[in-house]
Amino acid sequence: MVATHDDFGLVINQRTLKSPIAIASMAGIVDAPYVLSRAAHIGMGFIGGYSIDSKTIAASRQMAAEGRSEFLLDNPIEELDRQIKLMNGSDVVLGINLRGSSPTAFHQVADSFGHSVIYEIDAHCHQLPMVEAGAGEYYLEHPDSLGSVVHELKRADVTVSVKIRAGVSASDPLLAKKIWKAGADIIHIDLMDYGNSRLKQIRNACPVMLIANNSINTFDRMMEMFSHGADLVSLARRSDRETLAGLDAAITRYADDYGWYNAPKQLCRGGDVRSLTFCCMPIKKCPLTLQLKTAGLNRDEYIALKTSAVKGTPLENGQFTCFGSMTWCCKATSPCMLRDATLEREGLSKQDYMKLKRHLSEKIVHYVFDELNHDDED
Ligand SMILES: Cc1cc2nc3c(=O)[nH]c(=O)nc-3n(C[C@H](O)[C@H](O)[C@H](O)COP(=O)(O)O)c2cc1C
Repeated sequence: MVATHDDFGLVINQRTLKSPIAIASMAGIVDAPYVLSRAAHIGMGFIGGYSIDSKTIAASRQMAAEGRSEFLLDNPIEELDRQIKLMNGSDVVLGINLRGSSPTAFHQVADSFGHSVIYEIDAHCHQLPMVEAGAGEYYLEHPDSLGSVVHELKRADVTVSVKIRAGVSASDPLLAKKIWKAGADIIHIDLMDYGNSRLKQIRNACPVMLIANNSINTFDRMMEMFSHGADLVSLARRSDRETLAGLDAAITRYADDYGWYNAPKQLCRGGDVRSLTFCCMPIKKCPLTLQLKTAGLNRDEYIALKTSAVKGTPLENGQFTCFGSMTWCCKATSPCMLRDATLEREGLSKQDYMKLKRHLSEKIVHYVFDELNHDDED
């Protein structure tokens, strides 16, 4: 249900996202009117969190009594129905952030709303009453329970996001891998203070859509996330119209100028698994050796994979480049006369080149995660 295409290349529930900027949920604050009033600048919005069963509703009441802002509901399905209907006709893809203590509770919500929304499991809330109710951060401590909820939602054949907080699980990359293997489509990560290195580790562990979150309020911070593996970035506390509008305008311009809005850094400059699209032939000891090992690819497989992936595309050409084909050429922002001369001869713009490199990277990622067997690393 999650696919990639041109422009921002983000398609969810058969809807194209107009922006890779999202609003992250804030209980008691982010509802449909909040998202609609910022709709011009975002592609996705997560409303909630909504507590959906008796245990979590009781936890919300306790948290509210202690001074937290909460949506206090006797009938969450009725309220969610009202909120979802308010979003009808909007071009923002809607996610509902849910606190539930059993797979059945989540399934009941999915039965009510089907494919109209993304179902986001709140595995993030660390308030004690919620954790004691068996929801929120409880799931980070009990990944098998989290897996059961993901499974149950996938049985209902809906799009599933899991909102996590970095640094709680003993290993975030391993947790991400489990969430992916359980069937989730999206991992929404509050990176706390762990930053882009943690994001890169998660990107290298799973192929699902990643939403990076926490203090992503400036262009530089947003680009740091996009170049280390994020497909989207989300904002909560600073999701005011001015900040969202600035980030949205900047990333739209960047995508037009460079062709691939979330292109990774080159591997030798700290890139992630997607960076293999820019790597040259393995000829010396360099970060490529380690990345191939991590990905479970040997040298010959890597060469065969990239060579077959570009067959019939313009990247196959380039006899005057270092390795005789643009398959092995680097990022358009790295200066190279040989590559640029080839692009000119082929009638390709740098944006076209980066789009082709993006497609190559998607094929590499698909092969590494979906065709190679990773089970022995669990
Ligand atoms: C008042 C408040 C309420 C929040 N409620 C939720 C929630 O219900 N579910 C959830 O997954 N995250 C919740 N969060 C976390 C935010 O979605 C986000 O992860 C966090 O604020 C960091 O992002 P930011 O720096 O953009 O604010 C809440 C945050 C705040 C400040």
